[in-house]
Amino acid sequence: MNQEVIIVRGNHTLTGDVSVAGAKNSALKLMAAALLGQGATTLHNVPLISDIEIMSEVLERLGAAVTRDGHTLTIDTSAVDSCETPYELVSKMRASISVLGPLIGRFGEARVAMPGGCQIGARKIDMHLVGLEALGVAFDVDHGVLQATTPHGMRGAHVYLEFPSVGATENMLMASVTAEGHTAIENAACEPEIEDLANMLNAMGAKVSGAGTSLIEIEGVALDALHPCEHTCVGDRIEAGTFLVGGALTGGPVTVHGIDPAFLRMAIMKLRAMGCEVECGPDWVRVSRSEPLRSVDIQTLPHPGFPTDLQAQFMLLAALADDVSVITENVFENRFMFAAELMRMGADVTLDDHHAIVRGVSELEGAPVSSTDLRAGAALVLAGIVADGETSVHHLEHIDRGYEDYAGKLASLGADIRRVPADAVVG
Ligand code: EPZ
Repeated sequence: MNQEVIIVRGNHTLTGDVSVAGAKNSALKLMAAALLGQGATTLHNVPLISDIEIMSEVLERLGAAVTRDGHTLTIDTSAVDSCETPYELVSKMRASISVLGPLIGRFGEARVAMPGGCQIGARKIDMHLVGLEALGVAFDVDHGVLQATTPHGMRGAHVYLEFPSVGATENMLMASVTAEGHTAIENAACEPEIEDLANMLNAMGAKVSGAGTSLIEIEGVALDALHPCEHTCVGDRIEAGTFLVGGALTGGPVTVHGIDPAFLRMAIMKLRAMGCEVECGPDWVRVSRSEPLRSVDIQTLPHPGFPTDLQAQFMLLAALADDVSVITENVFENRFMFAAELMRMGADVTLDDHHAIVRGVSELEGAPVSSTDLRAGAALVLAGIVADGETSVHHLEHIDRGYEDYAGKLASLGADIRRVPADAVVG
């Protein structure tokens, strides 16, 4: 498909109801976990996004059959006979590294190309390797390919993660379910997507407890004790948070459906601190605002701290708030590229190492802007909805990785927005 561009006009309108899709950062790992069961696993509430297509390609390359029916994915791993994931796929999506753990769990070996970094940081995997080595995995890197073997099998271990890495926790989890004996992962990541993965693994016959807390314990089972299952992916808390920021920007009210409000406690606390009214139901959150946006300080941290994946969206809110906000990015080393694009629209942001000092302005001006990463791109579109004039957002491939029908959902909330071929845009 040729390049497209989102054209959005500043009509300051987002009101109504919108439903989120399943969580990208869960669904990708649930798909990888299906490798641990011989047969057909069914996943519901899987988002229609390009990262899911790439993970499907990774699984098919391993020998699995992947079929989609709307938001339901069926993954038949009966014919999986390879444990190799080549660079051409890993370079398309670094989350492919999530097959490392289940391949080791199933075959006792794996050959996965080392993932590179990306715009937001080096994205190292040293903690993945240290954790897996504690289980008895031996690694060798041969021309950029990670070769994993388990010469003496895998035995449970007590592992302390140096940082509560989401990916390292997940790979440890998916490998240790077939490691002999007891495994404990201390300082584990506590993100809701980890709990979702553990629930699926338990439905497959694994014995995992404590997921969602910083101490996860696993009793290893024999590989043939693991079986396919049917599982529904949790709602995407970052997609939900993105639409809630949209409602906070325009005044709303915007109601986001299909999300557990407990996943968004910190973001909801910050929305209220900025002057928004937020109501919560069992699977929905409503935001509205009738008073000026108030400045706020934000520290991004592992869950339950403020999510780094909502940092750009809240920087946009802060850019239009009264007074000065300080946003500190503690998770990734280079996640302020959004600021440069926002400044082109008239925002007043000063970057100092991992702090962004954001002085509120009364208005932003529409401009041609470029997505630098998934969440920055989504925030730039929101900026266009509250800017004066027209904004064109380029490099939509970033947005399409993680947001299903983003422009369509915003249009359903009243945004003046359309996707057009890039060559149709003048200037
Ligand atoms: C997951 O990335 C998400 N991606 C990210 O979402 C999210 O921002 C991140 O978790 C934090 O919540 C997926 O789930 C596909 P980490 P992950 O391992 O697993 C460093 C989005 O926009 N680190 O918790 O890679 C790492 O470099 C994306 O949807 C090491 O140094 O996150 C980073 O600075 C962006 N060594 C920090 O830790 C390691 O071995 C957090 O990484 C592992 C990580």
